[in-house]
Amino acid sequence: MKKIIIINGPNLNLLGKREPEIYGSETFEDFFETLKSQYPQFKIEYFQSNIEGELIDKLHEVGFSYDGIILNAAAYTHTSVGIGDAVKGISSPVIEVHISNTYNREEFRHHSFISPNAKGVILGFGLGSYSLALQSFT
Ligand code: DQA
Repeated sequence: MKKIIIINGPNLNLLGKREPEIYGSETFEDFFETLKSQYPQFKIEYFQSNIEGELIDKLHEVGFSYDGIILNAAAYTHTSVGIGDAVKGISSPVIEVHISNTYNREEFRHHSFISPNAKGVILGFGLGSYSLALQSFT
């Protein structure tokens, strides 16, 4: 069974409450339960942190043994050389995802330190971005 982990960055623990007009009204925990039941062929784990170094530590921990990593680094996408380097340094394929289409938002969201090192990028499909990323591992 393929082992996949979803890693969410800062403020994504507030999904459901945070700017629902952009990010929707479903909590990630509820979405995650649905996702697991839709894809019983995968062993899917979930990790969230608001702390840059914890996200880097988790990428190091899983990045040489898991079959896939679905990463929404949230705001750190646009600022973190360290997370970009971590993605480059590990061997598991990383799919970068975003809930919103960052290209139709503020200019500072148009740059990603993750994308050059990701296997692929999926954005703008709401929480469906995670489902599409998961499908890429089938
Ligand atoms: C986000 C987009 C980022 O620009 C933002 O900082 C987030 C969420 C998204 O999933 O749409 O926190 O990664």
